[in-house]
Amino acid sequence: MTSFKTRIRSKSKESGRIILANDYDTETNALESKTLKNITTLHKYLCAIKLNFHLLLPLGKKEINKITKTAHSYGLEVIADIKLNDIGNTNLVTTQRLWDLGFDAVIANPIMGIDSLKQLISNSHKTNHGVITLCHMSAPSAKYAYELDVKQEKKKVYQIFLEWALNQKADGIIVGATYPDVIKYCKSQAKNKLDIYSPGVGTQGGQASEVINAGSDFLIVGRTILNAKNPLDTTKKLSIQS
Ligand code: XMP
Repeated sequence: MTSFKTRIRSKSKESGRIILANDYDTETNALESKTLKNITTLHKYLCAIKLNFHLLLPLGKKEINKITKTAHSYGLEVIADIKLNDIGNTNLVTTQRLWDLGFDAVIANPIMGIDSLKQLISNSHKTNHGVITLCHMSAPSAKYAYELDVKQEKKKVYQIFLEWALNQKADGIIVGATYPDVIKYCKSQAKNKLDIYSPGVGTQGGQASEVINAGSDFLIVGRTILNAKNPLDTTKKLSIQS
């Protein structure tokens, strides 16, 4: 089996750079069948599907296994967006549970510290699973945390998180689509060593073509697709723009 990074890169060559953020609110029923329908309807224009607590909390093992199995049958990767941030042992048990559910990669928060991060990435890579680390989030106020100056390093927080991701060989980093200048900086440093995943296209204001030109490799899109009158057309359009 190849690494997560190789698998998602190769799938995106065939089906484009869009990752569906399969988020539904608490009013939504039939989460399992809606998710399966999204996979079967949209898979031609997706390289992966991202599930976060929106589905992990209400659904059980059987349902999630069915979702990950169906995604895999179409060649899609499945990413768990739990922004994992804990001590080494807890991270290990959590990822073992995620891999048992069929997930291919996890999004983690590097604020856990370099040792825990190193352990998380090396353990995940042993079984060809991926780790994507936060670098700069997409919300407008994210800059007040990720752009803080770290005096002793003479760098900003996101620059340090990028360095950690590169040094520990993370598969990718998250940089919000709403911060194209940060994407440009990260691409100039990372080149092809890791991939840049950008949430925040559409509903949050990011523009697909601008973000791709800045250097993002993958676009994570939720509400713009899920709330569209015609999700297939919208996904296709986004895929063409990127
Ligand atoms: P929308 O509906 O805005 O959903 O297209 C975006 C999806 O991405 C997640 N999100 C983030 N995840 N870092 C992340 O790891 C971020 O900066 C970030 N911003 C948004 C969000 O939870 C949703 O699933």
